[in-house]
Amino acid sequence: MRGHDFVEKNIGVMIVLVVVAISFGALVEIVPQFFLPQTTQPIAGLKPLPAKELEGRDVYIREGCHVCHTQMVRPLRAEVERYGHYSVAGESVYEHPFLWGSKRTGPDLARVGKRYSDEWHKAHLFNPRNVVPQSIMPAYPWLYDNVLDGKHTADKMRALKAVGVPYTEEDFAGAAKAVKGITEMDALVAYMQQLGILLTHKR
Ligand code: HEC
Repeated sequence: MRGHDFVEKNIGVMIVLVVVAISFGALVEIVPQFFLPQTTQPIAGLKPLPAKELEGRDVYIREGCHVCHTQMVRPLRAEVERYGHYSVAGESVYEHPFLWGSKRTGPDLARVGKRYSDEWHKAHLFNPRNVVPQSIMPAYPWLYDNVLDGKHTADKMRALKAVGVPYTEEDFAGAAKAVKGITEMDALVAYMQQLGILLTHKR
């Protein structure tokens, strides 16, 4: 009891002990994750995003899609029935930054790939009300007008390679050509059409 009294009355000691307790929790909970194959190895078939899809991902980030949409299906029955296979860590090992999100104003998009046609996505992004009359999602008409020049695509790949995404010299060499002249709309739709398709999903 005397020890307890002492800790309660000496805030400095209390802070140190709290930090020690939390650090221990972190060591036990977080550190092993860096060494488990389930959290560090890509799932079968996972490849770095090709140039077009990579540029599309950047449009997705710039436009703040991740602010309204998660890319994280939780392992709960209601989620799996609605969206498909729950998300696994091995799908995200090449994601920098990850786009799991934390707020669902719109539906989760982790498994949206191939759920709709390219035409549906384009009509929807041009003006969501054209295909979903009650939608509150903003319209993104400028994606049709903005054309990519591919100037920095290879640099983006190099930056990702520096943090462990296995891009090759061949990818860098072909990057600019692969995206030059296409619209941001095409890039974004290509990005969405590959989301989550490696694991089986409903619909
Ligand atoms: C202000 C919040 C908000 C933002 C920002 C937003 N969305 Fe949405 N999104 C919604 C809502 C709400 C819905 C459901 C209604 C609908 O389908 O339009 C939706 C639906 C969707 C769907 C259909 C999903 C499904 O399973 O039916 C896709 C795809 C989508 N959004 C993509 C995007 C993309 C790409 C962006 C960024 C360019 C974006 N959204 C930005 C709110 C948002």
